[in-house]
Amino acid sequence: MVTAAQAKAKYDQLVDRYEDIFFYVSDVGRDLVEFANPAPGSRLLDVGAGRGAVARAALAKGCAVTAIDASPLMMRRLADEHPEISASEGDLYRTGFADGAFDLVTAGFVMQVLDDPAAALAEFRRVLAPGGTIALSLERQSVGRLAWFQDLSLEFFAPGGAAEPPPDQPGPLTHDRLDELLVEAGFAHPVREAVEIPTPLADPPALWDWMMPRGLAEMIPALPPGRGEEFHRRFLEGAQRMHDDGGIVLEFAATLHRAYYR
Ligand SMILES: C[S@@+](CC[C@H](N)C(=O)[O-])C[C@H]1O[C@@H](n2cnc3c(N)ncnc32)[C@H](O)[C@@H]1O
Repeated sequence: MVTAAQAKAKYDQLVDRYEDIFFYVSDVGRDLVEFANPAPGSRLLDVGAGRGAVARAALAKGCAVTAIDASPLMMRRLADEHPEISASEGDLYRTGFADGAFDLVTAGFVMQVLDDPAAALAEFRRVLAPGGTIALSLERQSVGRLAWFQDLSLEFFAPGGAAEPPPDQPGPLTHDRLDELLVEAGFAHPVREAVEIPTPLADPPALWDWMMPRGLAEMIPALPPGRGEEFHRRFLEGAQRMHDDGGIVLEFAATLHRAYYR
């Protein structure tokens, strides 16, 4: 969960690697725009636009695209790559755009990182024209067949067990909760669609290579001497069992949400 300042620090660092690491965002960005089905010429605001997975797809559909993100480096890259997109640094809680300025607001994989998704939806509704559309994608959290990896990570990186979240801390945003929030924010007719993105990897070393730039490379050096090697050995054993038991497949999934401002 991040504020705009935290998002800026985190996503500025990721600017070069973001769409390599999160390789599925480009496909889901296209899916989200297809799902929203904007008429050519629609005024579209993509919030938390990142490298532009959704904004690029909207541009290809003939929309007039405005993009904002807390990360100035992401926005500079997007503006350089697609000068037709009006891309600028901005806070999605206070976009500064006029009431009713857009026909469609999109947010790809953004709602799940926000501290206050209800406040964000209120702002998105404010900048939508009556009859406008909101379209959001939400990552579906599922450990699935990587449960062994989660157990191994807890053993090495959180000995004694994972800390319980404080009782007043909200859990991860679910697709049901997001639909409720849409209705509470005054949006009508929420509908959603599931997207599955299974990603097969060849063998245990390929899984290791895939995991390293996604956090392991920072976590392993923090282990006591010798534990890093032990983690690597146990990781490869776990991955080999997964490989033997139906193959190494990463089970990414998302839901697309669409609703209308009455
Ligand atoms: C998971 S990325 C998604 C990027 C892009 N929409 C995509 O589909 O690939 C979340 C993005 O939300 C942005 N973000 C988070 N909080 C924000 C805020 N308060 N205002 C503007 N952008 C924010 C981050 O900088 C980051 O680029």
